[in-house]
Amino acid sequence: VLAEALVYARARLAGQANPYGHLTEQVGIWARHRRRGRAWAGHLARAKGLCLAAADALAPGSRRTALVLGAGLLLDVPLTELSLRFRRVVLADMSFLPSACAKARALGNVECRAADLSGCMDRLATCAARTPPQPAPTPDLALGLPDLDFVYSANLLSQIPLFAMSALRRHAPQLSEDALERFAGSLVTAHVNALRALPAACLVTDSMERGKKLGKGRGAAEYEADLLFGAGEILLSAAALAPGCERWTWDMAPDGEAEPGLDVEREVIGVPNVSALFNSASDRGEA
Ligand SMILES: C[S@@+](CC[C@H](N)C(=O)[O-])C[C@H]1O[C@@H](n2cnc3c(N)ncnc32)[C@H](O)[C@@H]1O
Repeated sequence: VLAEALVYARARLAGQANPYGHLTEQVGIWARHRRRGRAWAGHLARAKGLCLAAADALAPGSRRTALVLGAGLLLDVPLTELSLRFRRVVLADMSFLPSACAKARALGNVECRAADLSGCMDRLATCAARTPPQPAPTPDLALGLPDLDFVYSANLLSQIPLFAMSALRRHAPQLSEDALERFAGSLVTAHVNALRALPAACLVTDSMERGKKLGKGRGAAEYEADLLFGAGEILLSAAALAPGCERWTWDMAPDGEAEPGLDVEREVIGVPNVSALFNSASDRGEA
């Protein structure tokens, strides 16, 4: 706990803001990764591998700017390899720990950019108190970068709704859980649509969480939760049929780390090129 407080304090002293709790959450991830790094290694390696394979599939001239969305602690980002492949790499997140900024600086062609990738966090506090939120707007995920050749959405998608829901719970406590979940689903759809609009966007996201019993009855599923709030169906069914897409299980919180008496794991999906995925699904008449 002391180490976490120090990491948080260093980030605040370095000028990082924490208006919606992203920095606090990153410190939590930093601490969980220190405890569970071995269990996470396979998941992180697969995410990095999928990102690099997607980058390598680009046409040879497409090596200007790469953008990583939800770069965070860079655990699932093959940063050195991207910086060797692209002229410029932009890391986007709501906040960054100083260690991530230092890695970026050391490479010379990598920069950190603070951005709200939902495009609507600042509006939730003001408009939600009176009316239920409308479906989320589609954000501009190119972030105004003129020479963008590659985008990697790095385990961000399922996290966007969580921060938005907690802001809404704070500012608009009268909203029902149903209304919150509908809005959460619309944020997922908006992110996927924004990636679809980009020429080469690769997506890695967890889609489902499962709690499995430890001890007596070991392995039996205790609960399952849809991390994409019902909005991941089209993505998941298109990806199930498409070559190059991958699915794996992330041993996220084994041995009661998050829930006493449970192993918690997540199903993860990797899509090398989101717009190509939907184009081929619509050729088949599915999306
Ligand atoms: C599970 S972490 C991703 C892990 C990260 N790729 C890594 O390797 O450390 C989710 C990331 O999404 C970021 N995030 C969540 N909502 C966001 C938003 N609305 N705008 C920008 N970043 C956001 C969080 O700050 C966090 O760093």
